[in-house]
Amino acid sequence: MELPFAESWKIKMIEPIHKSTRQERECWMKEAHYNVFQLRSEQVYIDLITDSGTGAMSDRQWAGMMIGDESYAGASSFFKLKEMITLLTGFDYVIPTHQGRAAENVLFSYLVHAGDVVPGNSHFDTTKGHIEGRKAIALDCTIDEAKQTQLEIPFKGNVDLAKLERALQTHADRVPFIIVTITNNTAGGQPVSMQNLRGVRDLANKYHKPVLFDSARFAENAYFIKIREKGYADKSIKEITREMFDLADGMTMSAKKDGIVNMGGFIATRRKDWYDGAKGFCVQFEGYLTYGGMSGRDMNALAIGLDENTAFENLDTRIRQVAYLAAKLDEYGIPYQRPAGGHAIFVDAPRVLTCVPREEFPAQTLTIELYLEAGIRACEIGYLLADRDPVTRENRFNGLDLLRLAIPRRVYTDNHMNVIAVALKNVFDRREKITRGVHIAWEAPLMRHFTVELERL
Ligand code: F0G
Repeated sequence: MELPFAESWKIKMIEPIHKSTRQERECWMKEAHYNVFQLRSEQVYIDLITDSGTGAMSDRQWAGMMIGDESYAGASSFFKLKEMITLLTGFDYVIPTHQGRAAENVLFSYLVHAGDVVPGNSHFDTTKGHIEGRKAIALDCTIDEAKQTQLEIPFKGNVDLAKLERALQTHADRVPFIIVTITNNTAGGQPVSMQNLRGVRDLANKYHKPVLFDSARFAENAYFIKIREKGYADKSIKEITREMFDLADGMTMSAKKDGIVNMGGFIATRRKDWYDGAKGFCVQFEGYLTYGGMSGRDMNALAIGLDENTAFENLDTRIRQVAYLAAKLDEYGIPYQRPAGGHAIFVDAPRVLTCVPREEFPAQTLTIELYLEAGIRACEIGYLLADRDPVTRENRFNGLDLLRLAIPRRVYTDNHMNVIAVALKNVFDRREKITRGVHIAWEAPLMRHFTVELERL
């Protein structure tokens, strides 16, 4: 008999988690204004709000923490981190930052100006925020197929090259760079193929534009290229990441995802002009150039995390767990963005809560229902997160409205996946009784979903 699949690690340290009663959760949810970001973590049983900064570090990473070099300038930890980044990407210039959005802030302070247009594939909300906050436009050129959740194609995060070329022709001098998000978080943790990255590079060369990768989940993207794209089965993840980054001029990175650290990020580039342009903003906003918002110990842990998470076994364990949860949802007939993504399952909320009108935010309503059902905290990647159009101030209902079940790296077991699936099934089974959603009582002008206050209808 063939041995079954099992994790490529064993557990050395645990953290207890606690269940609660439905009555307690009703009360806590109301106090939190029906916004799961306002809950306290003790009020949560299984926390799927994000896979960002919530992973479990390895014994090697913790050992690295103990020998961090906290020197203000020239710390050895910085050089260890830089060496690892250069190995994986080929980029020689590295600026550490305290997280991904800080990398965006530092680099975009140099690159993005009022009136600019930045085309890309489903810019993440902080990326969009840093572009729109500078009175520029984040132009989404994702393939249309990404919006059809039931369509199963291998690289649903891809850039639509025809849309991108039109954008480059139309906005010509107003485009400072093209951004490609790997994997495409907003479209469902969907990967971008090497072929598509090559297509973007060709267009960039044709129109003399640089390419930036938003690389938060670059290792998961490389895993999907290895598994799904012809010609990559025999290449190592590290060979694939190097080939991916050969097609870019630079990257912004939230290291809290594929770096498996609790805090951290960086900019890396091959362009001296970007490095020289951004470094002053790093000193202004983050810190001196060899730590930029990170402790020496955290840079050590990140260097090791990047090494570990570009090993096939580690990625295979993780992505198989996400696929395991997806298979459970298939069993119960619950619709989600197909195929299963790298870091999360994205449930298609309007297909579940068919009686809740879009003006009442179906995905947010489903988020609330799942929490009330079992203390599971997921998050909305939908109409609330989409914010309002900066010009018309209308809600943006043109994208998907998804409930994201983000799976932290190396944290939960498949038994937790079983609980999540059954809790969701219970909500799914009573979906026709859920006819009303929520309305907004208070919201911030940008990135409203973190702080929005809602009322239940
Ligand atoms: N880019 C992508 C694709 C992201 O998913 C995130 C964060 C960022 C940039 C910003 O990085 O949080 O380190 O400042 N995504 C988290 C999430 C918050 O839950 O998906 P950050």
